[in-house]
Amino acid sequence: MHGGIALVASGSATPSQRLTNHQLGLRVETSDEWIRGRTGIGERRVSGPEECLSVLSSRAAFSAIQMAGWDPSSIDLIVLATSTPDDLFGSAPKLQANLGALNAVAFDLTAACSGFLFALVTAAQYLRSGAMQRALVIGADQLTSWVDWDDRRSCVLFGDGAGAVALQATDVNDDGLIGFKLRSDGSRGDCLNLHKVKESLSLADGVIHQRGGFSPIQMNGQEVYKFAVREVPSILNELLSQNRISPDSLDWLLLHQANQRILDAVADRFSIPTEKVLSNLSQYGNTSAATIPLMLDEAVRDGRVKTGDLIASSGFGAGLSWGAALVRWQGSL
Ligand code: ACO
Repeated sequence: MHGGIALVASGSATPSQRLTNHQLGLRVETSDEWIRGRTGIGERRVSGPEECLSVLSSRAAFSAIQMAGWDPSSIDLIVLATSTPDDLFGSAPKLQANLGALNAVAFDLTAACSGFLFALVTAAQYLRSGAMQRALVIGADQLTSWVDWDDRRSCVLFGDGAGAVALQATDVNDDGLIGFKLRSDGSRGDCLNLHKVKESLSLADGVIHQRGGFSPIQMNGQEVYKFAVREVPSILNELLSQNRISPDSLDWLLLHQANQRILDAVADRFSIPTEKVLSNLSQYGNTSAATIPLMLDEAVRDGRVKTGDLIASSGFGAGLSWGAALVRWQGSL
């Protein structure tokens, strides 16, 4: 049985420490009023010393496995979308070991805030082809480790979190990934970076090497904002038209949670009412690759997203990278 994929379960995890706008205002020149008004963010979660990425993503993945009712040894594939691994060689194998998913191949995928959608589509191809039956897709990031906490233009935006979705191969007639589009444009990538440090050290006479390590996030907020409000409606429009789906028939709009004003602008473009726009920005801010599955899991568990619901999703961010997917939530099969 192959050709289709079903999204059967979700999970999520966030660090316990909360950092409010008010607390941030005691560090940098900002205010709750400014941050809420410009972004919709009220607070964010910050990983403590013991909360590494593999721990956070394992918690999210484990709750998805529980919801699915799967034996971890039945999982074939684990794709971890992250830009902030614990180990540059990859954090997914550690996650696989933590879960006891002995038969799963596990690897990281990096595409910043588009990472979850890119990973979902990647995992779907393994299932569609018939090569594999069960996959876990996790979006997890800890950008608070890479923020310049003295830069008020960027530090107010980001938080940490993880979300996971369990995918099961199905018959093509039950396909839950109705369509997708993915895009990259490296020529415009300079407006949002987490660059390698630029430091050269001498090893021997005439031999210079580059030191490892990364500099904090650098962002031109206005450019990223313009990119998002131009490209997200455009790619969603292409996807809806190609699949002959009218915006009226969507149950939910599930966008990467970067800024409430971006969510509102996209919803407005398609005349989607506020009640159908999923948002938890006020609690978590921008958790990068985690935002979409974190939001989905919240809405599944509180009963808003139900079996059969049609969801239009879009991720966008550094790279530049962006994408959109039309999915039907299946729930446990
Ligand atoms: N508190 C108070 N004032 C501030 C703050 C702050 N935290 N940040 C900036 N300001 C000031 C600026 O200094 C500026 O003051 P000035 O006019 O005296 O120079 C003024 O507010 C306006 O600044 P803008 O940058 O024009 O503010 P804008 O309305 O564009 O909002 C924001 C900034 C929220 C960053 C917005 O541009 C945005 O959301 N952009 C998208 C960013 C984003 O989503 N990035 C993540 C992408 S996903 C990924 O891949 C990681």
